[in-house]
Amino acid sequence: MTSRHRAFAALLISYLLGVVLVLVQGDQSGSASKTTTEHSPPDWLASDGFDEIRFKMDRVNEYNCHILKRDQLYLPEGTVTHLPDIKKININPLYPNRTSLLHLHNMALTRSFYWSYVLQSRYYKPPINDTYDPGMMYYFLSTVADVSANPYINASAIYFAPNTSFTPSYRGFFNKTMPLFAPRTFRSDDFNDPVHLERISTRNTFIAQDLGAIPTGQVSKDYTQELYMINEWYHQWLPDLSERHDTKLTYQVEIRYANNTNITHTFHGPPGPHEAGSPVKWTRPYFDCGRSNRWIFAAVVPIVDLYPRYTGFRHIEIPKYTAVSVVEMDFDRIDINQCPLGPGNNETNMFANTARCKSETTDCEPIHGWGFRRGGYMCRCKPGWRLPFTVRRPYLGEIIERASPEQYYNGFNCDKIGFIQKIPTELSKVKPARREEYLEYYHQFRNYSKGPDSVKDDKMNDHEVMQFILGVNRRTCKGYTPEQLKLPGDFSFGAEEFYENEAKMGLRLANFISAFEQLSDPKEVYSGKRVADKELNEDQMIAEVVALLFGNPRVWSAGVFWDRKKFKGRTYFAPFAYREETENSHDVIRRKVEDLARLNSTDEIYTKNEWFQLLKTRWAADTEDLEKYFVKMMVRYNETGESLKKYEHYPTDYRAANLNHGYWTVPYFDCNGKVKKWLITYASPFFGWNSLKNKLEFKGVVTVSMDLLQLDINQCDDKFNVPNAFKGTHKCDKKSSYCVPILGRGFSSGGYKCECKQGFEYPLEDRFTYFDGQLVDAEFQNIVEDKQTRYDLYKCRLAGASSIQFSWVLLLILLMIHYRFNRR
Ligand SMILES: *[C@@H]1O[C@H](CO)[C@@H](O)[C@H](O)[C@H]1NC(C)=O
Ligand SMILES: *[C@@H]1O[C@H](CO)[C@@H](O)[C@H](O)[C@H]1NC(C)=O
Ligand SMILES: *[C@@H]1O[C@H](CO)[C@@H](O)[C@H](O)[C@H]1NC(C)=O
Ligand SMILES: *[C@@H]1O[C@H](CO)[C@@H](O)[C@H](O)[C@H]1NC(C)=O
Ligand SMILES: *[C@@H]1O[C@H](CO)[C@@H](O)[C@H](O)[C@H]1NC(C)=O
Ligand SMILES: *[C@@H]1O[C@H](CO)[C@@H](O)[C@H](O)[C@H]1NC(C)=O
Ligand SMILES: *[C@@H]1O[C@H](CO)[C@@H](O)[C@H](O)[C@H]1NC(C)=O
Ligand SMILES: *[C@@H]1O[C@H](CO)[C@@H](O)[C@H](O)[C@H]1NC(C)=O
Ligand SMILES: *[C@@H]1O[C@H](CO)[C@@H](O)[C@H](O)[C@H]1NC(C)=O
Ligand SMILES: *[C@@H]1O[C@H](CO)[C@@H](O)[C@H](O)[C@H]1NC(C)=O
Ligand SMILES: *[C@@H]1O[C@H](CO)[C@@H](O)[C@H](O)[C@H]1NC(C)=O
Repeated sequence: MTSRHRAFAALLISYLLGVVLVLVQGDQSGSASKTTTEHSPPDWLASDGFDEIRFKMDRVNEYNCHILKRDQLYLPEGTVTHLPDIKKININPLYPNRTSLLHLHNMALTRSFYWSYVLQSRYYKPPINDTYDPGMMYYFLSTVADVSANPYINASAIYFAPNTSFTPSYRGFFNKTMPLFAPRTFRSDDFNDPVHLERISTRNTFIAQDLGAIPTGQVSKDYTQELYMINEWYHQWLPDLSERHDTKLTYQVEIRYANNTNITHTFHGPPGPHEAGSPVKWTRPYFDCGRSNRWIFAAVVPIVDLYPRYTGFRHIEIPKYTAVSVVEMDFDRIDINQCPLGPGNNETNMFANTARCKSETTDCEPIHGWGFRRGGYMCRCKPGWRLPFTVRRPYLGEIIERASPEQYYNGFNCDKIGFIQKIPTELSKVKPARREEYLEYYHQFRNYSKGPDSVKDDKMNDHEVMQFILGVNRRTCKGYTPEQLKLPGDFSFGAEEFYENEAKMGLRLANFISAFEQLSDPKEVYSGKRVADKELNEDQMIAEVVALLFGNPRVWSAGVFWDRKKFKGRTYFAPFAYREETENSHDVIRRKVEDLARLNSTDEIYTKNEWFQLLKTRWAADTEDLEKYFVKMMVRYNETGESLKKYEHYPTDYRAANLNHGYWTVPYFDCNGKVKKWLITYASPFFGWNSLKNKLEFKGVVTVSMDLLQLDINQCDDKFNVPNAFKGTHKCDKKSSYCVPILGRGFSSGGYKCECKQGFEYPLEDRFTYFDGQLVDAEFQNIVEDKQTRYDLYKCRLAGASSIQFSWVLLLILLMIHYRFNRR
């Protein structure tokens, strides 16, 4: 054989080999695609849990709901999952898909604490022939404020058990109870309202009515009866038949008044976080038949009072649940999770596994903000797989759901990553030249300021800044000047979103005071025995700020700061409630309140505060910009109830601040204050009539303060105009990867992940598909300190072909080249 023949034979063999390879491969991929079809539902449009619920919901409407069976008005358990639990709030990170449920939870809890405190506070006052309870207007406007300050909350109510509600609102009613009492407010659609000529929904009209005013004998309107159908909230806590004194947890409030006397209030409240069961119970989603006629979902918390009252014998007055606070939101606003349940998760979820991710190569991950709709998820490649070259970001559920069957079967897969690298165990230092390169690029790690000055550097050394911020505590803070203990505003980037719920709780109180000051007139004279509400009193204000703290573990302090001579009978009045760090005893939960009016020297007084001054100046002249709220109130006809009548006294609208009218302070460390922590404060103004009652005026400010160090920082890149001090301080390799923030890591560096860019793949053999920012940061620090490091390993690799494929084209070219060469 000539060399030519030999070469030809070799080529032929390789050709045949190639054919065999292709056949084998084709076979393999064929079997793979067969298994795919077996795993996915055979019928593309097979009905699943989602359809079942949709069907159940569509069957009910406002016309037929009255004749349906009880069960048809409820959705099954497992339609709302991942319910916030007070036992875990401080342990697990809060997912953005559950912030609105948590808010519902906290709002109901706060109201319960407020009413429990205020109803039991009569024990610390001299006995009189009248009840100290807030009047009817207080109840109504309190529920109005719950809804008006919170766009996601659609209704708020308090339902009393029969014969347990006392009221000062009727003359000669001492020691008598109303048969039923249930003030409830819901947001109404005012699209067709003649008040709004614009013909748009302002979402600022509220209908407040007393659901306890029912004609005798109309059992189906009595919310304590079975026939009411949708009253699952009632039976979750009421009626309370306990006959013992020790069934309700005790809470303590230590108060220091302006006259420097101290007292401690002890009261019974809802179950505590360490007790069995949770203080907040949830109803199943239900159709709000005959009321708002929508599918809604409620959080329910009990209110405690000592009952019966005024017996003169303390031992027969027993702490009992006498009412429930019920806060509701629309069901279709609550995110569902269509992904398969994780291992070890046995929670019932009606929608589990309805996502259409291709489970061979991708993992499902929920995305938030979708509510009750299909498609709130994305499909990420599994570890060991990467996106095809033509795809930039993980597949969105929304797009998958809309895909045609053909698109679906042929797409939304990931490619296998060819070879996976084991993580090398031995470490090494980077070469000096390479280190030089890094330090040139991240020059802030070579030349930087230390301590408090580090926050002012042009290019920030995040390592140094963190050391400074985390190094300040109650002892070391004395070594810094007040200026040094104030961070620039861009350090709390994201706080307005992160602490929005807390801000809304402060806003609610400001809103309530505005409403009460404008709508309730203590001089009003009614016909019959009805008595107008008295003015707000000190106890009520103290109870409100205390309730804010008890109801929301993320609020460290809360205060109501009345402007000079605006609170009746006081020059200055500023109840300020705060939490101390060392208070975690299990028997009693304690909060402190101080009336800051005590510190009334000219340079100490609270009206000097920057936020107070700012808000006062901003709203001194012009209150026209404030949000306008309309209240339609239906009150009981007389003390026994019987029927409702329209509340016709004017005005029926009030003006109050919305979330944007408030003020966020920069982060500060309050070394002389009550809470020695890095805090951010949100301040919201409230308004009432001037002395002539012809113009609104600024009356004061409500504040809430939160811990800066719980805030997640975002180190990823962003637009140049985004005021984020940590912007772009991530250490991801910019060529091959991009940075994505990880939530829940708090105020420490490394709260991000480096995901591979399009065309790059994750090279390591582990459970991940990205590099964790904490590792990347730590390894980078090793370079700075010239230690051994793996930093260079944390880079994505240029994606190779998924396997070496046989190519006809290549073969032909080879053949041609071969012949050319051999002819010569
Ligand atoms: C309270 O009312 C009772 C009877 O209604 C009366 O005898 C008593 O004097 C009153 N006490 C006070 C302090 O008004
Ligand atoms: C309930 O709240 C949601 C969210 O803000 C809103 O879209 C919806 O219209 C509200 N429902 C009513 C009856 O106003
Ligand atoms: C409430 O009090 C009224 C009048 O005293 C009484 O007729 C009614 O039975 C009581 N209701 C309950 C549930 O105890
Ligand atoms: C101090 O003030 C509180 C509340 O204003 C009041 O109840 C108390 O009687 C006062 N104490 C003294 C000794 O004046
Ligand atoms: C009240 O308590 C504070 C500490 O909280 C204390 O400094 C003050 O002396 C107390 N006042 C009285 C009158 O005991
Ligand atoms: C108030 O009512 C309770 C129970 O109805 C009764 O035991 C008590 O004596 C009454 N108290 C007064 C002061 O009338
Ligand atoms: C909320 O988000 C978390 C984290 O992404 C996820 O584990 C959880 O399943 C989500 N829950 C719902 C109901 O989407
Ligand atoms: C889920 O599992 C936990 C422990 O693994 C168990 O305590 C709980 O009862 C289970 N729940 C259900 C509904 O099966
Ligand atoms: C370090 O930074 C300061 C101010 O930013 C600058 O004046 C100084 O020249 C820098 N030193 C070096 C060695 O780059
Ligand atoms: C400060 O408070 C004290 C005690 O309440 C009072 O006697 C004094 O007049 C107040 N001073 C001013 C300037 O209001
Ligand atoms: C309340 O009004 C109803 C209906 O007019 C009447 O029957 C009832 O006696 C009234 N109750 C009182 C205490 O006046």
